Amino acid sequence: MFTLKRTHTCGALRAADAGSTVNLNGWVEARRDHGGVLFVDLRDRYGKTQVVFRPESGAELLAQAQGLRAEFVLAVQGVVKARPAEAVKKGQLTGEIELEARKIEILNEAKVPPFEVTDDLNASDELRLKYRYLDLRRRPMQQNMITRHRIIAAFRESMDRQGFLDLDTPVLIKNTPGGARNFLVPSRLQAGNFFALAESPQIFKQLFQVAGIDRYFQVCKCFRDEDLRADRQPEFSQFDLEMSFVDESDVQAAVEDAVGNVFKKVLGVELKRPFPKMSYAEAMDKYGSDKPDIRFGMHLVDVSDLAKASAFRVFSEAVATGGVVKGLCVVGGGTMSRKDIDELTTWVKGVGAKGLVWLKGEGGTLGGGSAKNFTSAELSALRAKLAAKDGDLLLFVADEKGRCKVALGGLRTHLGAKLKLIKEGSWEPFWVEEFPMFEAGPEGRPQAKHHVFTSPKAEDLDFLEKDPLRVRARAYDLVLNGVELGGGSIRIHRKDVQRRVLAVIGLEESDIRDKFGFMLDAFDYGAPPHGGIALGVDRFVMLLLGLDTIRDVIPYPKTQKGQCLMQNAPSGVIPKQLDELHIALKPPPPAEEKKT
Ligand code: AMO
Ligand code: AMP
Repeated sequence: MFTLKRTHTCGALRAADAGSTVNLNGWVEARRDHGGVLFVDLRDRYGKTQVVFRPESGAELLAQAQGLRAEFVLAVQGVVKARPAEAVKKGQLTGEIELEARKIEILNEAKVPPFEVTDDLNASDELRLKYRYLDLRRRPMQQNMITRHRIIAAFRESMDRQGFLDLDTPVLIKNTPGGARNFLVPSRLQAGNFFALAESPQIFKQLFQVAGIDRYFQVCKCFRDEDLRADRQPEFSQFDLEMSFVDESDVQAAVEDAVGNVFKKVLGVELKRPFPKMSYAEAMDKYGSDKPDIRFGMHLVDVSDLAKASAFRVFSEAVATGGVVKGLCVVGGGTMSRKDIDELTTWVKGVGAKGLVWLKGEGGTLGGGSAKNFTSAELSALRAKLAAKDGDLLLFVADEKGRCKVALGGLRTHLGAKLKLIKEGSWEPFWVEEFPMFEAGPEGRPQAKHHVFTSPKAEDLDFLEKDPLRVRARAYDLVLNGVELGGGSIRIHRKDVQRRVLAVIGLEESDIRDKFGFMLDAFDYGAPPHGGIALGVDRFVMLLLGLDTIRDVIPYPKTQKGQCLMQNAPSGVIPKQLDELHIALKPPPPAEEKKT
């Protein structure tokens, strides 16, 4: 029976409510027996209220209360009482009162949960995911979900104010090459054919532009069959938008308004606008990353010129074989022990570097580590180039260009966290621009760095076939505190340029027709210049909450192995279903070959 419907939530009652009779509904968080007087903490999404059962209220009620266990669902009617001064709980919103129970209804019982539903949880990730509904019942997770909602609401509010239309696009779409690996969905009605789950609404949002929907947005699901990491899920959400008759600055201004609104509404923080910009080349040179954390300095410095002429073979050979030598200066790092530095060496080796050369600023020059390998003139020059002072630590990596950047850029980030160089609570969003249009793919063939619909810069068009890797794209990423929050571009809106780009990535004319014919045809009917972007919703929420995994901000995430532990998916299907889909399974790989 359920008659005691709540009149208040478990977070609502204050001293001013003393004397009134109210009903609360919620879950039992804890029950304490103080020799005849029973206390029960009742919890819901809004807070927690202490309910007290006194002997004066009757033996029957007390006996009922004695049967309560953690996570029972309870409706209680009682009288709000102000707590005596010594019993007031300062930190708790309902800490001034308690509810003296008169009547209860046990709405449902609960088994002993597999872990205690408390703020400080001590349970494995697997258990949390298997019983996600219990994990979500915990206050920190509820806060994450509430913040997620508020971020999405603030984003939507800005988009609506700016005249964007919230329209959805299909999830079952055509399988096209490039980008992430697609999830495939077999068609029952079209034997032997497959849909792909959309990895993004890219093509449809561009076609909206051809259709005259000149400001579109959507909070959508995207599906990518990728290897997972802390900031990647196979199924994730995007703030996706597209606009017509615009250039880079218009798209960026629209996004800055929306991101600014989120920060204002959710954190009460006013972001400085416009956001600063940095070229891809500068980001890679100075930070060794296309998504650097610019909340601290410690820039990478190229010392290849100096290294080239050095007798120290680690340095000179790297340059002689076409590589580079780069270093960074850890201010005050001279106090690091040999063991600390060995740990850093192990760290860079872990990301593919051959080693780490180190020197310390001392006596007006450099000493320690590899100092004996350099002339005093070289040591002075290195010290000057890295602006080192006595007491600083200099670290160098000599390697092929890409590996050097990855190792030293990674080391910079690693040190930033380890040495606590990052100003906590500071937000420095910025744009990275002028990305290369292509990168070398697995077989040396160019592949689109952002995607094939991104427009090359007009001044680089001539190099499209001659020297594709030199072509810069009209692409931009939004980076925040070392995380790529979003990426977008001004698109190609002319059929001839689109064809050329598709040909550069190696598509034959027949492939182009088959995969993208409908899009090229659309360009024949008046495609306006357009551009857009998509931001990762989950990453955004993770960042704002200061968390380091998107799993804690997605209501029902997958594991690292791409499974839903709660449903136990993916799972097998019965032969009849496969028959209907015209699918025959190959025998599963022998057990020993199965990936563990
Ligand atoms: P892109 O592939 O760069 O661009 O994705 C945009 C943003 O989506 C987020 N993101 C992810 N988040 C969680 N898990 C993943 N597996 C994952 N993959 C991407 C990131 C990323 O910056 N259609 C284009 C956008 C455009 O050009 O308008 C696109 O999808 O935060
Ligand atoms: P080795 O001459 O191999 O004993 O190396 C001397 C020092 O140089 C050690 O501290 C190594 O970690 C470091 N080292 C070796 N190769 C590289 C490299 N490619 N880049 C930076 N440091 C290196």
